[in-house]
Amino acid sequence: PLPFSHSLLTRRFLSGCASGKFEKPFVVLVIGAVLFGYMTARVSYLVPNKSRCTGSGLVERRLRSELASVLGTYERRMSDTQRPIVNPHAFDYVLNAPGVCKGNQVETVIAVPSRIHSFEARRAVRETWGGVANNTVLLFFFGIVQPADSTKHTPYYEPETKLTPEELQTLLRKESSVYGDIVQENFIDSYRNLSLKSVAIVRWVSLYCPGSTFVIKAD
Ligand SMILES: *[C@@H]1O[C@H](CO)[C@@H](O)[C@H](O)[C@H]1NC(C)=O
Ligand SMILES: *[C@@H]1O[C@H](CO)[C@@H](O)[C@H](O)[C@H]1NC(C)=O
Repeated sequence: PLPFSHSLLTRRFLSGCASGKFEKPFVVLVIGAVLFGYMTARVSYLVPNKSRCTGSGLVERRLRSELASVLGTYERRMSDTQRPIVNPHAFDYVLNAPGVCKGNQVETVIAVPSRIHSFEARRAVRETWGGVANNTVLLFFFGIVQPADSTKHTPYYEPETKLTPEELQTLLRKESSVYGDIVQENFIDSYRNLSLKSVAIVRWVSLYCPGSTFVIKAD
């Protein structure tokens, strides 16, 4: 005896198998059960995600698979060096000191973000903590002064210096030729562009002083 022989359905089924004929109520019952199961499955498939009915689910699935295939192609085609650079930092040098590390055993680069009008502060740094250690290079980093807007009455960049952008730039150029410690890129020098100045420091060290062990950013 089978363990489930008490089941009416099982007995009907087994007797049907033995005789080669299934009783009508049994057949109807089985077909009904299959239909019921199928409908229930359909309903539970449709109801939780209504968007399938409107077609947007289909669109979403299609978009997903397209995105996956595009990304897959991208991954396959691009090697690490070919990936597009999101922030290329495409600025040029206005003033530079490209040779300060050449031929020297430079261990540390001290990079100081500075504003052009801070002449006295730079003098103090050179005479004190910036100028004491051996195997160390001290550099000041700048953007450019935003040119005065000729349509507005703003003849001076910094009211306290009373100097035009051109005059400030001339002074910085002179300072660069005297001390050789000025790096200036052509982005606009402003507080909100300090991040660009940090990138400028990293870029400069990687280009002109790749053998150094430490970079100190200080101001
Ligand atoms: C730098 O090097 C010179 C020459 O080797 C040495 O006399 C001097 O003491 C060093 N200065 C520092 C701060 O280490
Ligand atoms: C930062 O520099 C860029 C490049 O010169 C300039 O377009 C932008 O206006 C600057 N942003 C600020 C806030 O000064």
